Amino acid sequence: MKPTNSPSRHRPSITVRPSRLRVAEGVPFGVLRFCCRLPCNAKPVKEANCMTALWEALWASDPDIFEAILADIERQNFFVNLIASENYTSPAVLAALANPMQNKYAEGYPNRRYYGGCDFVDIAERLAIERAKQLFGADHANVQPHAGVQANMAVYFACLQPNDVILSPALAHGGHLSHGAPVTAVGKLYRVVHYGVRRDTETIDFDQVRQLAHEHRPKLIICGYSAYSRVVEFDKFREIADEVGALLMADIAHIAGLVAAGAHPSPVPYAEFVTTTTHKTLRGPRGALILCKADWAQAIDRAVFPGSQGGPFMHVIAAKAVCFKEAMTDAFRRDQFQTIANARTLADELQRHGFRIVSGGTDNHLMLVDLRPFNPDLTGADAEKLLQRAHIIVNKNAIPFDERPPMKASGIRLGTPACTTRGMREDEMRQIGRWIAQVLRDPSDETIERVRGKVMELCQQFPVYTDLWEAMKTVKVEVPVASE
Ligand SMILES: Cc1ncc(COP(=O)(O)O)c(C=O)c1O
Repeated sequence: MKPTNSPSRHRPSITVRPSRLRVAEGVPFGVLRFCCRLPCNAKPVKEANCMTALWEALWASDPDIFEAILADIERQNFFVNLIASENYTSPAVLAALANPMQNKYAEGYPNRRYYGGCDFVDIAERLAIERAKQLFGADHANVQPHAGVQANMAVYFACLQPNDVILSPALAHGGHLSHGAPVTAVGKLYRVVHYGVRRDTETIDFDQVRQLAHEHRPKLIICGYSAYSRVVEFDKFREIADEVGALLMADIAHIAGLVAAGAHPSPVPYAEFVTTTTHKTLRGPRGALILCKADWAQAIDRAVFPGSQGGPFMHVIAAKAVCFKEAMTDAFRRDQFQTIANARTLADELQRHGFRIVSGGTDNHLMLVDLRPFNPDLTGADAEKLLQRAHIIVNKNAIPFDERPPMKASGIRLGTPACTTRGMREDEMRQIGRWIAQVLRDPSDETIERVRGKVMELCQQFPVYTDLWEAMKTVKVEVPVASE
């Protein structure tokens, strides 16, 4: 089935009238002004009063989970989040995620399902497919992968046989587990050869990629990283793949938002397969997406379903469609360029305080910070813990050629997507860089407490999900908990 640009052509004749449903006896829809300083084009969803009803239902039925969610919203609001793979998704995406399409089984693809009743979920999936193709300029899109690992696995199933050779980035040099680490199914099913970065520049060692490609004749070459801060030269990978007759897969899980915005070169013209998560810089729901050349469309669709997944998560696919629409706006594009400007500023500030940035800087949303020149005894694990006490969230990360084990590591990975989404700019990045240096230079209770106070003040100037939080607080006070 060839997807069409006109979803309305497929609109079933049933008209859905606004429902007057009540979630539970005596629990009317409330009014939730579900807006915050969040993304770009996100408008207050004034008519979304059903959201309060959902919270009321949750509070009445399971206050423990309600409390955990409330506490995590509070955490998201009062911590500076520098995890490079996280973001704050928009109210519109959150609303789509909390929708009853989650009830629908829809194995198969639009118009080719194994279940009846798929008319409306077909609309959502067609929109997601068409928007993904438009956003990235791709021939074909599969929007069903539940997560990045599943997207990568589906590509392997589509184009490889067991024991085929994959040439991929080493985990310790910025790659991802799903690129073939021995502990994963990928590592067990295929023969995996890894390339890395050069010792002197800490950028991809293309001489090594070429030499390993000629030596091992891989069927598939992977480019794409979890911890690499430089522009990925997809054209060079294509050249090498062509020299040895290999297929090319670009895993842009981290940089998809930048690519969509034109802030990083696109791999689409060069790679047979492009995989990405939808929840990192792309700022959508947790999930993934595969883009491929037309020749591979059928093999990819089969590799996802029935090859490696069952029923698609239709509510998540609806939320992916919303995310792709948001990613086409000017505001989203501006934010992606700002994310890079923020990362460069943060890297610069940290360098001024004696930290070393791996490869000397960043071209994207993240950086790897080598802690050794700042303090040779400080591990990434220690830094992560100390900064968390000051309400700054980072993750420990091995740096290339690290002599410490990964659970200790000599570095931390910092990213700016989440801070940028909540409105922070260069001034705030400089301030955060100074606080990181202060905490790690003098990790006394006094310093940590002082910085924590400042971080929380800053967070209050850039609030997230505050109306949602307030609505949940109200629900807690006003709605009785159901007796068992
Ligand atoms: C480059 C890359 N690929 C794949 C993944 C896997 O994504 P998921 O956690 O959604 O399975 C990640 C996750 O961090 C990643 O960084």
